[in-house]
Amino acid sequence: TTRNNGTHAGSDFVVVANRLPVDLERLPDGSTRWKRSPGGLVTALEPILRSNNGAWVGWAGVADADAGVIVEDGLTLHSVPLSTEEIADYYEGFSNATLWPLYHDVIVRPEYRREWWNSYVAINRRFAEETAKAAAEGATVWIQDYQLQLVPKMLRMLRPDLTIGFFLHIPFPPIELFMQLPWRTEIVEGLLGADLIGFHLPGGAQNFLYLARRLAGAQTSRGNIGVRSKLGVVQVGFRSVRVGAFPISIESGRLDQQSRSKAIRDRAKAIRKELGNPKKILLGVDRLDYTKGIDVRLDALHELLEEGRVDPKDTVMVQLATPSRERVDSYIHMRGEIERTVSRINGEYATVGRPVVHYIHRPVPRDELIAFFVAADVMVVTPLRDGMNLVAKEYIACRSDLGGALVLSEFTGAAAELRQAFLCNPHDLEDVKDKLHAAIEVPPEEGRRKMRALRRQVLTHDVDRWARSFLDTLANTGAAGRALIAP
Ligand code: ADP
Ligand code: F6P
Repeated sequence: TTRNNGTHAGSDFVVVANRLPVDLERLPDGSTRWKRSPGGLVTALEPILRSNNGAWVGWAGVADADAGVIVEDGLTLHSVPLSTEEIADYYEGFSNATLWPLYHDVIVRPEYRREWWNSYVAINRRFAEETAKAAAEGATVWIQDYQLQLVPKMLRMLRPDLTIGFFLHIPFPPIELFMQLPWRTEIVEGLLGADLIGFHLPGGAQNFLYLARRLAGAQTSRGNIGVRSKLGVVQVGFRSVRVGAFPISIESGRLDQQSRSKAIRDRAKAIRKELGNPKKILLGVDRLDYTKGIDVRLDALHELLEEGRVDPKDTVMVQLATPSRERVDSYIHMRGEIERTVSRINGEYATVGRPVVHYIHRPVPRDELIAFFVAADVMVVTPLRDGMNLVAKEYIACRSDLGGALVLSEFTGAAAELRQAFLCNPHDLEDVKDKLHAAIEVPPEEGRRKMRALRRQVLTHDVDRWARSFLDTLANTGAAGRALIAP
């Protein structure tokens, strides 16, 4: 839907995210090709944009990619170029060594550097300017995630005609932690440029409301915020900004269908065979990130082996770990630690041709990933903090056979919805071990009962419902919208 009838030519619906849904890959022979970008944001948004004929503004994932517009499969991609230095300061620095650890409970100590902040401001401005060019008169613009928190205000100043939504895909931190940030007021004011600010959980939305009062001096509603209901409201001059909780999800129906195909079932059987037909396959699937608690699950497995509660002859763990943010120090350090632990477990418990932990540090193609979900007896999801965690939902969507068990950290957004999982506290190693052991040993009938309940949740709350609930709320200004607001 491209329009050219008003002051501004462009698209009626624009998604703005740090990354485009595809990364440009430069091959050794100098040629280039596109490949799917990593992470949950792209998994969630790509299907929605394709079905809405919208535009996507983002970075192509490599330094100095050309600025420009690419039309691909009904999707218009606006590439925002970043130089090597800008990637280091805005992306690796402020986004992933300041905001990422601060918003994930300071698992790693955030670094506060002024030159990184300056770059964050400059790049957010570039995204706002590109978006102003891409959006038609009166368009709806949906800005995504922590890398772009200043864009709502910058864009509103450039284009007051737009309807602007913002969604945060990672946790919004406790107030005491957010207050560490030297640029806390600028971030809150940046977000308040939106008409609707969405978080995964009511708790994050409520933290934000408090900070809007305290840091921006705004009047706000005081009532509790609900899930997809009872919005909060912040008064910013003559504008009312709404604040709400919209837990994200996946294309559950599509995954369910894909996982039922004969090709996937056959591949799942072949995977089990390749692993030596163990009694139990444990599976981890993550970007290689310190928030994911990959070390926690390896430590738990190690102790269960030491205690003889898990038998290395009939149990294997597969850890699929996509490379991520490989130039950031904390990621380099964590990778070394995890790889050491994997070798240590194998050194002590593997036999020749029979590792206990299979560790793959490469992205896995989608069909292969689905086959792993179908093959796994226990899915192990143990983040120390995670905004949602889509992997947990993907596993459930793939288990139409009602087989398999999910071990899930209480510190994920998903835990608020997936109450019948084997929930564990990742800071309590004994608890993780007990839940892992219980999931390995769960009686089939109990396992099926749990999986049935989990599937009911995931199949009725898909990513389409998430997007619709956010976008309907965003469109719903005036009297109808006000009825949703918390008193
Ligand atoms: P995050 O957004 O922090 O990366 P999520 O669990 O929400 O975490 O989303 C991760 C997405 O990336 C999921 O769609 C998952 O299937 C995909 N993914 C994660 N690890 C791998 C892997 N090793 N190979 C292929 N896809 C992966
Ligand atoms: O979902 C959280 C998120 O940080 C996204 O914003 C991001 O695109 C994805 O994870 C993967 O991280 P990155 O883009 O840094 O590789």
